[in-house]
Amino acid sequence: MDLNKLILKWYDKNKRDLPWRNTKNPYNIWVSEIILQQTRMEQGIYYYNRFISKFPDLKTLANSDEKEVLLLWQGLGYYSRARNLHFTAKHIFNELNSQFPETYDELIKLKGIGDYTASAISSICFEKARPVLDGNVFRIISRVFEIKNPIDLNNSRKVFKEKAYEIMPNKRFGDYNQALMDFGSIICKPVNPLCSSCVLSKVCNAFKNDSVGNYPVKSTKNQVKSMHFNYLVVKNKSQFLIEQINEGIWKNMYQFPVFISESKKNKKDVIKFFSEKFHVENLRLEPVDSEYINHKLSHINIKSKFWLFEDKMKHNRGVYVSSFKDYPMSKLMHKFIEKYKYKLGLS
Ligand code: ADE
Repeated sequence: MDLNKLILKWYDKNKRDLPWRNTKNPYNIWVSEIILQQTRMEQGIYYYNRFISKFPDLKTLANSDEKEVLLLWQGLGYYSRARNLHFTAKHIFNELNSQFPETYDELIKLKGIGDYTASAISSICFEKARPVLDGNVFRIISRVFEIKNPIDLNNSRKVFKEKAYEIMPNKRFGDYNQALMDFGSIICKPVNPLCSSCVLSKVCNAFKNDSVGNYPVKSTKNQVKSMHFNYLVVKNKSQFLIEQINEGIWKNMYQFPVFISESKKNKKDVIKFFSEKFHVENLRLEPVDSEYINHKLSHINIKSKFWLFEDKMKHNRGVYVSSFKDYPMSKLMHKFIEKYKYKLGLS
């Protein structure tokens, strides 16, 4: 039997009961696919349900504030996904008369929608023959065909895409794509794949050659960089100064003023940086704790230190707040606030 028939047969028996599987509404599928990128399924389901409760349709999302969307997204990371969802919802609502595009070529023009999402939406909602390439699909294809092209190199995409087209069924494109993703998560897993109960074992070259552990091939291990973040906690009576971030992964979210560097900085360096930033002299700072708070992002290990300054300082992008809950902030900020809330006089 062909690989696609085996996979679809497996899917019909084993597919996961996911909250977006009972609809073909492109709004819901779009939201689910964006949330699931870089996110574990369990966490994805939780955020999807919350997102759909708060923004049940395109119109609601388009008419909401970006801040509301970022607040809901807190903790999920990769916040550009939230900003782009909001931007594109407004675009479809205002410029496309609320008509969700149906084809890959139209979908991929939208901000935040790349090859993966355009393939997923066009196949799942509109039965277009567009194969998705996500980590699961790369893994299955690399093992079944023993493809040695490193999956993290851009020019390997073409090889995998061609193979993915070659093995597509001639119907049920949406089911087939989702079947591959479920199959990759449940059976053809990155480590400890369940080869002994795998319906593809007869057609899988890596299984035949006992080389499953060698696939998928990667060119390099991810290079993780260390960065130092020195935050300035300006406390004035019971209020704290936070500023809106104007670029980078946390754009439009909020944080304490920060000094970011690749190398470690001492108290003198930190005082110099913030003295210049705020145009003040004789800045008196004390570390909130002698320990660092460590925070890992996919390619960066952040070592952060927080410095307390108890007085008022003016800052043109900053606001003084006594409660942080209405301001979208990174997990790192939340980690610090939670850990030191008593020390800071917060309840
Ligand atoms: N991961 C991302 N999107 C998915 C989907 N539609 N089904 C299963 N797993 C997924």
